[in-house]
Amino acid sequence: MGEEAMKSKTSLVFAVNGERFELQLSSIDPSTTLVDFLRNKTPFKSVKLGCGEGGCGACVVLLSKYDPLLEKVDDFTISSCLTLLCSIDGCSITTSEGLGNSRVGFHAVHERIAGFHATQCGFCTPGMSVSMFSALLNADKTHPPCSGFSNLTAAEAEKAVAGNLCRCTGYRPLVDACKSFAADVDIEDLGFNSFCKKGENRDVVLGRLPCYDHTSSQMVCTFPEFLKNEIKNDRNLDSRKYRWSTPVSVSELQRLLEVENGVSVKLVAANTSSGYYKEEKERKYERFIDIRRIPELTMVRRDENGLELGACVTISKAIEVLREQKNVSMLAKIAAHMEKIASKFVRNTGTIGGNIMMAQRKQFPSDLTTILVAARATVKIMTSSSVQERFTLEEFLQQPPLGDKSVLLSVEIPSWRPVKNDSSTHNILLFETYRAAPRPLGNALAFLNAAFSAEVSLSEALDGIVVNDCLLAFGAYGTKHAHRASKVEEFLTGKVISDEVLMEAIGLLKDEIVPDKATSNPAYRSSLAVTFLFEFFGYLTQTNAKATNGWLNGGGKEIGFEQNVESLKPEAMLSSAQQIVENQEHTPVGKGIIKAGARLQASGEAVYVDDIPSPDNCLYGAFIYSTMPLARIKSIRFKQNTVPEGVLGIITYKDIPKGGQNIGTKGFFTSDLLFAEEITHCAGQIIAFLVADSQKHADIAANLVVIDYDTKDLEQPIFSLEEAVEKSSLFEVPPPLRGYSVGDITRGMAAAEHKILESKISFGSQYFFYMETQTALAVPDEDNCMVVYSSTQTPDFVHQTIAGCLGVPENNVRVITRRVGGGFGGKAVKSMPVAAACALAASKMQRPVRTYVNRKTDMITTGGRHPMKVTYSVGFKSNGKITALDLELLLDAGLTEDVSPLMAKGIQGALMKYDWGVLSFDVKVCKTNTVSRTAVRAPGDVQGSYIGEAIIEHVASYLSIDVDEIRKVNLHTYESLKFFHNVKAGESPEYTLPLIWDKLAEFSGFNERRKVVEEFNASNKWRKRGISRVPAVYVVSMRSTPGRVSVLGDGSIVVEVQGIEIGQGLWTKVKQMAAFSLGLIQCDTTSDELLKKIRVIQSDTLSMVQGSITGGSTTSEASSEAVRICCDGLVERLLPVKTALVELTGGPVTWDNLISQAYQQSINMSVSSKYMPDFSTGQYLNYGVAASEVEVNILTGETTVLRTDIIYDCGKSLNPAVDLGQIEGAFVQGLGFFMLEEYLMNSDGLVVTDSTWNYKIPTVDTIPRQFNVEILNSGQHKNRVLSSKASGEPPLLLAASVHCAIRAAVKEARKQILTWNSSNQQGIDVYFELPVPATMPVVKEFCGLDVVEKYLEWKIQQKNI
Ligand SMILES: Cc1cc2nc3c(=O)[nH]c(=O)nc-3n(C[C@H](O)[C@H](O)[C@H](O)COP(=O)(O)OP(=O)(O)OC[C@H]3O[C@@H](n4cnc5c(N)ncnc54)[C@H](O)[C@@H]3O)c2cc1C
Ligand code: FES
Ligand code: FES
Repeated sequence: MGEEAMKSKTSLVFAVNGERFELQLSSIDPSTTLVDFLRNKTPFKSVKLGCGEGGCGACVVLLSKYDPLLEKVDDFTISSCLTLLCSIDGCSITTSEGLGNSRVGFHAVHERIAGFHATQCGFCTPGMSVSMFSALLNADKTHPPCSGFSNLTAAEAEKAVAGNLCRCTGYRPLVDACKSFAADVDIEDLGFNSFCKKGENRDVVLGRLPCYDHTSSQMVCTFPEFLKNEIKNDRNLDSRKYRWSTPVSVSELQRLLEVENGVSVKLVAANTSSGYYKEEKERKYERFIDIRRIPELTMVRRDENGLELGACVTISKAIEVLREQKNVSMLAKIAAHMEKIASKFVRNTGTIGGNIMMAQRKQFPSDLTTILVAARATVKIMTSSSVQERFTLEEFLQQPPLGDKSVLLSVEIPSWRPVKNDSSTHNILLFETYRAAPRPLGNALAFLNAAFSAEVSLSEALDGIVVNDCLLAFGAYGTKHAHRASKVEEFLTGKVISDEVLMEAIGLLKDEIVPDKATSNPAYRSSLAVTFLFEFFGYLTQTNAKATNGWLNGGGKEIGFEQNVESLKPEAMLSSAQQIVENQEHTPVGKGIIKAGARLQASGEAVYVDDIPSPDNCLYGAFIYSTMPLARIKSIRFKQNTVPEGVLGIITYKDIPKGGQNIGTKGFFTSDLLFAEEITHCAGQIIAFLVADSQKHADIAANLVVIDYDTKDLEQPIFSLEEAVEKSSLFEVPPPLRGYSVGDITRGMAAAEHKILESKISFGSQYFFYMETQTALAVPDEDNCMVVYSSTQTPDFVHQTIAGCLGVPENNVRVITRRVGGGFGGKAVKSMPVAAACALAASKMQRPVRTYVNRKTDMITTGGRHPMKVTYSVGFKSNGKITALDLELLLDAGLTEDVSPLMAKGIQGALMKYDWGVLSFDVKVCKTNTVSRTAVRAPGDVQGSYIGEAIIEHVASYLSIDVDEIRKVNLHTYESLKFFHNVKAGESPEYTLPLIWDKLAEFSGFNERRKVVEEFNASNKWRKRGISRVPAVYVVSMRSTPGRVSVLGDGSIVVEVQGIEIGQGLWTKVKQMAAFSLGLIQCDTTSDELLKKIRVIQSDTLSMVQGSITGGSTTSEASSEAVRICCDGLVERLLPVKTALVELTGGPVTWDNLISQAYQQSINMSVSSKYMPDFSTGQYLNYGVAASEVEVNILTGETTVLRTDIIYDCGKSLNPAVDLGQIEGAFVQGLGFFMLEEYLMNSDGLVVTDSTWNYKIPTVDTIPRQFNVEILNSGQHKNRVLSSKASGEPPLLLAASVHCAIRAAVKEARKQILTWNSSNQQGIDVYFELPVPATMPVVKEFCGLDVVEKYLEWKIQQKNI
């Protein structure tokens, strides 16, 4: 068949979960992404959208490709948010529900995720499932594993979910679920799960684990037969006919590019660059050319000259190829570095050519180009005039951006040829690559990357190692491209490496590698350059001719960093231990049963708001927000004054109907605006809601909106807290919420022997980072009614807001919430304007309107934790006992009150974990022109608790007494606890903190490990460890909440509560409580059997009124109590029926019989209740203690949390599996606050950390390597719900232990520097306030940005003495 005849294909054919899809190319917009298609045009909603930029893994699916020649299927994960639909022609897609589901049975991956208690909100879980499945599938492809297991090793299992984000679980149970498949797993090492108990025989456990048989796993047919047959007979697309072309040869590509002169063309490899260059989504290309079917671009060629890779070789494939070149360690090192680029699901499709082109054309901070420059790579280019040219990569990067119609064809890494070709000397190539990034395993751009190659040989004459030639490449530090430090290279060439030479080289380097001024942390990045150079050459300074014989004269071994500086950070695998008591007393309450709906979450069948199919005629909204802090809004228009595709209107405050109000939130302290009116008062304030025919069009159009502002005659906006105080820009805090002073501060200070006066601490903000962003769907109903599906923690307030905004009675509105994909406080107040905007638009347009707010808009408009500034004065005795604390706080509430007046209570409650003697406490809630802050998990409490630690640390430092001693001295007695906390302190036996404090020391081997840490620090120069034990006290308040339990005719039970399932396990606890309480009827059906009959259903504000907010950690227990009351009522009604039945039949009565009888007697089988806490039950204290040990790399500032031990008092836990998940998840979220997450604004107050690229929550590689938790089963608490206590927020405070441990390690580093400076031994124990979060740049700064120079200076000095 001739070429022309073959080109007659008109449609795309592919499979999703085995189902055939055929789409006419003429009907497809080539910019459609796979996630768009799957979510909007198929029933497969398990594919979630978390970021749309490749950074979270929620959208991960398995892509399978069939090679008809080799008859082989390749299966790998991809991010469907970056993959273009057209590019999957001929492929098969498997989503999580394709692995298994509720209809055909769940897959072992789903079952194990559920059984290891590894889901909470469940939004990340389908992506996790697919990542795990892919790891198993690929591990078991080449050879069969042993029965019941996979070939996947436990270490590989840990990396299987490395790029997937989860904000809820803290990752440990997810890793355990995955590890449970590994043949080398130590079953004892697996955390608490529903399959096995500690100490059980391995075979018994195996028998219980949901069966994994690799053959059956492969029965998940990832590539259906019909598609194989179609591929065998496949024809190519007619490239000229459609906007999407797939040339199959370079000549065809050339022709296409020539013909298309004047037409905008986008070359597409994997399109992953659209995750970074999001503006690409807005550009309208007339033609897309997919270049991945051109053999020259996917070839791999190896010969003695080197290794050539086609530009479309994926990063994953390149890693594989590089690893195959077993004797070339340079290639292995390049491969190892490449494994840290992005995440597996990006590397699997992202190409090396795409990466290089991003760097060449747009200055992307690439790792690849830096390491390839150091490897002296060359590139082959085909220019628009069809000429093929070869350049060094370095030259290529320096050229002007390559034209749109030019193509990068290949990259070649040449074989090494020694510069000094002298048979008398033995030359060695040293090659090493470096990167410093917030996440060790990748999915984070580097602060700086570098790669060095140096040819060295031994100089007998000079008694050292001489550099014959070197190449030093640096990148990702804000310059245009990877840059060579050529002056340093020149200087070093021919020199023997000594401390003096290195010192001089560092001096030159600092002038040469200068980060761009606009880059964040420039000084840190410069210091990293010095660090890397030192790591590379430092070892050689100690090497004389004799010492090098081993490697330099020998077999040509190349050396690397491992040998240069003390070994790398510990690579130990994650391990954990949990001690948990399952209470039998109120069974099934107290059992660690699997979370309700966990399997559905894993398979992706659990329905979130955006999974509800769009009603006919549905419209989509996107918010338009202000980028100015205080300005008059003159006009709202589109760029170039043309209305973008699909736009139907822009809703502003002018569209509020008659009788309605411009309110976006209602119900807390005041109502706040939905839309800014004439004036915007902060950047991030919502100005309008754009409505279009699809979410994509709405988002694109919102970006094309231009707002004309005018600041004439307006005052200057307020940004600083001091300014707010000066201008009295303060919110009134009602007296009961202001906090209170305890004792007489003057007397307390007078009793002190020492004082620290007016010391300062400050905190920034933290973003919720729920995986499901804000979302709502509003559907107009008859008679001016509105049904709104909202992802909210406050359905009742959403309800009131909508009614107020539309000006309708509240009975015209119905708000329905089934589950929320993570809330953390962010969906309490901030969900209200989202739902209100949809309702307003729906009301105006009389069509359903929904929105799924994109991550950037969500991050910019929702605010976060309260930034604050604290000034304290503290008085204390010589033994460290504090006698008085005087505290003044300035809180940045942002523009509106929101819940800010509540903050003082949280701060003070947590602060009062210590006995301060007396306390004077004053809080000012400042109004600034920044986006309004709200409650974020443990709001105020986390700062209050940390303030306490900072003060204790300060006192310890002042007195030079061990800080752990100072903590102990200041822990409350029960009497002092009562003095500070009044009735909340409860009875004396409830005060378990001192017990936990001591128990933790034993549990964690704290005292012995402190000695080991000391020894470690004495014998390691570049790595320092710190260990710290921290207590937490947390006040919670119970709130009234309604419930209803109804029994249906077949005996099945429906439970309604107004508490929302946000991942905290509320439904599970409620179900357990209902089963226990109904079980009290004592019929022949056990509580466990009853449990299976119970379904908790969505919350509906018209079905159940007077709901409250889901937050503050107590909603589960309050809802459980409401349900218990209902069940008591039902039992009361059923008891006479049961008695009569027993009398009648003489035998036992089953539940079903009983209910059937009750129905016959028309007994009301539905009971409602409202739980109301009273004075004695309204508030109580929670206790926990954590000890964390960290290791700080003082050269890079990287911190590894080696181990964390927690003991937390859950009272009698309602469900220890759920509570364990809450403890671990909260701790890891706290770890993000203390170590990683910077939520920054520009000078106009606009949030600039607005994506997964620049906001880094913890990942699996940043959690404690060893993570042990004990849930204390602390006996009877008569005022609590079945003696249980809260677990949702308090453990977050314990993450301060990590910060304190980092501070201890940094202190050691600072002490060491002082020893290198013998003239300045004073102030060795000088106090320093380590900022929160202690990010890598911060830690490095406090360890000394010039630590290398200091060290070399000292060494040189020593030699000269
Ligand atoms: C979440 C995430 C994290 C990342 N982290 C890192 C990181 O830490 N370090 C790092 O180095 N990189 C990182 N990357 C970048 C990643 O390596 C690139 O996105 C990927 O390699 C690009 O390949 P692609 O095939 O998707 O290119 P595409 O997106 O298809 O193409 C990129 C650009 O190059 C053009 N183009 C593609 N191929 C050619 C060619 N052969 N000739 C001419 N023009 C061409 C395209 O038109 C487009 O403009 C990350 C990416 C993501 C999404
Ligand atoms: S949604 Fe695709 S990676 Fe986040
Ligand atoms: S369970 Fe992972 S994000 Fe909620």
